[in-house]
Amino acid sequence: MKQLIFRIKKIKKFTIPATIFMFNIFLATAQQDQIIIEKIAPGVMKLSMGKPDQFSPYRFCPEKPRINEMKELSDKELPFDIKSVKIIKNSRGIQISLPLSRDEQLYGFGMQIGSFGQRGLKKRPIVNDAPVFLNNNPISNPGFTHAPQPFYVSTDGYGILINTSRFVTFLCGTNEEKEESDTSEGNSNSLKTSAIQLYENKPESSWKTWIDVPNAEGIEVLIFQGENIKECVQRYNLFAGGGAMPPIWGLGIKYRVKGDYTQEKVMKMASYFRDNDIPCDVIGLEPGWHTKAYSCSYVWSDKFPDPQEMINRLKDQNFRLNLWEHAYVNPAAPFFNEMKPCSGNFLVWKGLVPDFADPKARAIYANYHEKELVSKGIASFKLDECDAGNYSDATSTWGFPEMSQFPSGIDGEQMRQIFGYLYTNTLYSVYKKRNQRTLFDYRASAVFASPLPAVLYSDNYGHNEYISQVATSSFGGLLWSPELRDAISDNDMVRRLQTALLASQTVVNAWYLEHVPWYQINTEQNNNNVQSESFPELEAIVRQLFKQRMSLIPYLYSAFADYHYKGIPPFRALVLDFPDDIKVRNISNQYMVGQSLMAAPTTADSTTRTVYFPDGIWYDLYSEKKYQGGKSYKIEIPTDKLPLFVKAGSIIPVAQPLNYVTSYTVFRISCKVFGDNPASFILWEDDGESYDFENGKSNRITLSVANNKEAIKKEGKYAGKRYDVIEWKFIK
Ligand code: GAL
Repeated sequence: MKQLIFRIKKIKKFTIPATIFMFNIFLATAQQDQIIIEKIAPGVMKLSMGKPDQFSPYRFCPEKPRINEMKELSDKELPFDIKSVKIIKNSRGIQISLPLSRDEQLYGFGMQIGSFGQRGLKKRPIVNDAPVFLNNNPISNPGFTHAPQPFYVSTDGYGILINTSRFVTFLCGTNEEKEESDTSEGNSNSLKTSAIQLYENKPESSWKTWIDVPNAEGIEVLIFQGENIKECVQRYNLFAGGGAMPPIWGLGIKYRVKGDYTQEKVMKMASYFRDNDIPCDVIGLEPGWHTKAYSCSYVWSDKFPDPQEMINRLKDQNFRLNLWEHAYVNPAAPFFNEMKPCSGNFLVWKGLVPDFADPKARAIYANYHEKELVSKGIASFKLDECDAGNYSDATSTWGFPEMSQFPSGIDGEQMRQIFGYLYTNTLYSVYKKRNQRTLFDYRASAVFASPLPAVLYSDNYGHNEYISQVATSSFGGLLWSPELRDAISDNDMVRRLQTALLASQTVVNAWYLEHVPWYQINTEQNNNNVQSESFPELEAIVRQLFKQRMSLIPYLYSAFADYHYKGIPPFRALVLDFPDDIKVRNISNQYMVGQSLMAAPTTADSTTRTVYFPDGIWYDLYSEKKYQGGKSYKIEIPTDKLPLFVKAGSIIPVAQPLNYVTSYTVFRISCKVFGDNPASFILWEDDGESYDFENGKSNRITLSVANNKEAIKKEGKYAGKRYDVIEWKFIK
């Protein structure tokens, strides 16, 4: 035992500290080394073997686990004997196997693009700027994504996380081992059947998930327990530090202007929103604000003769300013020389690649940003290009190669997997230090990103995938914004906008459009100032849809408080909420929003769609039409209403829409009560901008109804006021 504790202490620096919450330690036998099994937090077990990686993702997680909140979750046992987890160390590296039951489905591996349920697939989650679809079949994407994670959750109630930044392959019940195999005729590996068929007649013990971690000399496997898949996700998010709490203005609308806009054009666009009664909270500038953009100088170009004046004037009109950048440092950047010794041995677009695994590089990058940009009023950043060129395309060579070396000792492969995560954490630390909340756009993430106030985006533009990425991000503490750019038809534009509004962050990314997309959906004509005939009609729809989003901000803000304190993703796959309903296991084009809304966006192909309602009674949020659950309906989706449905027994606070949110905004709320015996709803009240809520400066306003009598109870220490309940409406 003495020896064991010594070993844990020795590896503590670079691994998940066993001391944060040590309950039990015991040993299981592995092929060569010992496996150490520890309980490291309520409902979280760690298996470790050999010498775990120095640059494991958890080492860089800045937040502490929310132990008290984790204790609130059930302490259900794992569905398998923990000692049945095999870890093998050999000259290839590490291989891990875990049992898999006949009916369980697996989800995760980060924000997956293409596949949803992962059973029967071979997944290799790798940071890539694009998914790879063979024969146009999305399911064939090996797991290439902006946000890969060596983490999955099971419908049997457990989650598995491999704490490594290396490329990992997961065989989700796809292959048979020799000693486990039934060698009788007709059941051999050579059968050309799907994996599930192959295993159909075999005993349960032969189903396995295999995990391959080449080159590793040791490993840490974290196992998250839970009553169901949702609790496992909650535990994972809470272990990472709890879900992100965005500033309240982050829940409004973000508009990104064309890359070559001047200061004057930016101000004109800002006036367009205010003059035309169209909500907008954040204006985003694209590459043209730098003197050099590929790589970046982080210095204002002469298109912006007086940036401070612009920032101040935008502030006066209640806009926040967001700046595009990436992390590759141009020789024209004022901190280039300082960064040079703290960067990798390959350049990207002739710029340095900061070694964000090294605190020195992080400090240089953070200090410059704080002094020159954040302290001058920049509210947030878009952290572009922190993924890498397509791994399986010989012509897509941008980014630093896997063979790169960095001064900290991390190699290019591991850096590729966590670069976006480290970069975003570097700038997040600036805002956190200033007690100022922010919300970034970023294009690459990793595990333990749940507390990061950052939302993923992509250059890919498949609308079906955009919708299902909302669901796939929810398994791993990731937020995703399916943005609106150009469109192929008016209907396409409106449907894409509806999807954009039904996500954590709403972004219109007009980075290559002179005018707003609804002025002209065709890029060329938009840039040639050809206004479309449907502009007035489309603009009216946009206004109406934007306002519906704005009216849901109090509801969404509470959803984020649940994310922060309970680990419940604000936008999440149906399988998380309805674990016993087998029909939702394959549904990725509908998802839950907050406590009791379900979104069912549609694409341009049709104005109707099939919507599945889980058991119970459901209502259309706007028409209040009722649906009996447990079945599917073909439903007409109007263009001017968000496709949102309410579970009976819910209170939905709907605000009078505003065109922007400030720290002093007071929302006027209608409480809409759908059905009988509604569950209470907690409005989250705080200053909306600082982290003072972590020190108790927040209120919980409980809205409830009992015996047909409504009640409002306020508890907490925040002195300000954000909500005024003006009416109650009962919908039977
Ligand atoms: C891309 C990014 C786009 C836009 C563009 C500007 O990498 O995904 O959203 O910002 O750069 O160059």
